[in-house]
Amino acid sequence: MGGYDGAGELARFSVAVPAELLREYDALIEKRGDARNRSESIRDLMRSAVVHEHLRTPDEQVIGSLTMIYDHHTGDLTRRLDEVQHDYTAEIVSTMHVHLDHRNCLEILALKGRGARIYELADKLLGLRGVKHGELTCAATGTSLDI
Ligand code: NI
Repeated sequence: MGGYDGAGELARFSVAVPAELLREYDALIEKRGDARNRSESIRDLMRSAVVHEHLRTPDEQVIGSLTMIYDHHTGDLTRRLDEVQHDYTAEIVSTMHVHLDHRNCLEILALKGRGARIYELADKLLGLRGVKHGELTCAATGTSLDI
């Protein structure tokens, strides 16, 4: 996969994040005590995201679960989550919705289908504004799909 570890040309960019998130992130780096700075830590996160993308198997049958935590008071988020899911009825095997507290909901989707469709669904849902936490856990079943 190479190309990300070398001492190639460095690019600088600025990122806007909530101050509280930055404080918590810096505290996390500090706690881990690995003497890395913020930049190195963020480079690791970026490498990990790129590697993760390469591990996707769009042409295989996959099974998995998608977990989301969101604030149902965020705009029309609930309606948008619903709309996306109605376009993937063949892939969504089951859903569980838990009302965590006054604001927050936990939703877990059991998924099965062609990798490309599953990743597309996860990207659409997790990309919605207001989804605070989201994670797709997925495994290929070993079945290739010639479609
Ligand atoms: Ni709820």
